[in-house]
Amino acid sequence: MDGNRYLDLSSGFGVATTGFGAESLIRCYQEQASRLYHGMGDVHPTLLKVELCEALSRMTFERWGAGQGRTILGSAGFEAVEAALKTALLATGKPEVIAFTGAYHGLGYGALSVTGWTEFRSPFRTQLRELAHFLPYPACHRCPYGKKTEGRPVPGACVECDPSCLADLEESLRVLGRSGRVGAVLVEPMLGRGGEILPPPEFLPLLRRVCDETGMLLIFDEIYTGFYRTGPLFACDAAHVVPDLICLGKALSGSFPISACVGKARWMDAWPESAGEALHTSTFLGHPVGCALALTMLKEWEQVETAERVAAAGRVWEESLTTLRSCQDVADVRGRGLAWGVELRDAWGNPLGGRVGRMVEEALAEGAILLGGGVEGNVITLSPSLALREEEIVWAVEMLRELLQRRA
Ligand SMILES: Cc1ncc(COP(=O)(O)O)c(C=O)c1O
Repeated sequence: MDGNRYLDLSSGFGVATTGFGAESLIRCYQEQASRLYHGMGDVHPTLLKVELCEALSRMTFERWGAGQGRTILGSAGFEAVEAALKTALLATGKPEVIAFTGAYHGLGYGALSVTGWTEFRSPFRTQLRELAHFLPYPACHRCPYGKKTEGRPVPGACVECDPSCLADLEESLRVLGRSGRVGAVLVEPMLGRGGEILPPPEFLPLLRRVCDETGMLLIFDEIYTGFYRTGPLFACDAAHVVPDLICLGKALSGSFPISACVGKARWMDAWPESAGEALHTSTFLGHPVGCALALTMLKEWEQVETAERVAAAGRVWEESLTTLRSCQDVADVRGRGLAWGVELRDAWGNPLGGRVGRMVEEALAEGAILLGGGVEGNVITLSPSLALREEEIVWAVEMLRELLQRRA
């Protein structure tokens, strides 16, 4: 509003992965708006909606060799999570869900019920169903078992990891899975808003194993991590684990509110044939402009060069950001690809959430948009776009160093 220009290091909450001026998206907006700028979701769907559902199936379950994927589209990310929760109930008949502390799944009431942040839930507790069992998200950067993590290589395992945390977790998962009440495990393959936390590499395979043994569905919330945010196309690709349902949003269209819950046909077919009214729908579902943009983005994602560009940009971020480890109050620098977190704590280990808040404001004065993150608010969160040039990354990291030194 003051005519200032900013370098957005959050890429608009992780949406604008290809930046804010991608010509292919601008052209697509113009062309689609002049052809049809609103449709009738599922009553008379556009061809674009069909093409998008087919493309999402190819990119997920067909690519993973798990048959066809079927899709429920939505507008916001939380709607995709709620579509997944409904599917899990229809497919298993079991209403409860295992979710994780620190996980963020959105703020609609269904998604809020499974979001592991007390802060968001407590004002509304009296209207919320207690349908989630929250288990601790395995966080290697502050190992609850006191294992040595210093100097840990980026991909997430403790240096001396057995990993004891996972043995406890496995036990809890089994007990809940066998209770006969829990139909699904909902998890972010890497905690995004919860502080850019990478779990140990054994975590996702463990969840898959226990789900297979106990009949729970495994739902990956890749609304933040999807579409190359963490390096591979989806974060679960790195772990070679195939979910039963995957939730997508944010970078799916690179700009427009459209989300998707894609599931194995076997589970999605639990939805009954419509007997007149659609059981799950919304006015803007399958919006033609959103579908056209998502299809344009998917074409870009299909190019091998995209993965190479993310890997190269990720290396520059890693090399530059890890130099901040020596700054005072920097407790950890962690991340992968285009998802990074710089955690601040004082010498006694107390979280410095207030300081992160001030740095976010000071960064604006320097011309950069930063976000705070983490359950304790003490993580500077960087979810930049692919479009940043190397010199912009170097500038951003030097700006952060200067802000860190200013108060040290
Ligand atoms: C992992 C994850 N799930 C769900 C959501 C909710 O998406 P939306 O804000 O579009 O409802 C977010 C948003 O940040 C997210 O990061």
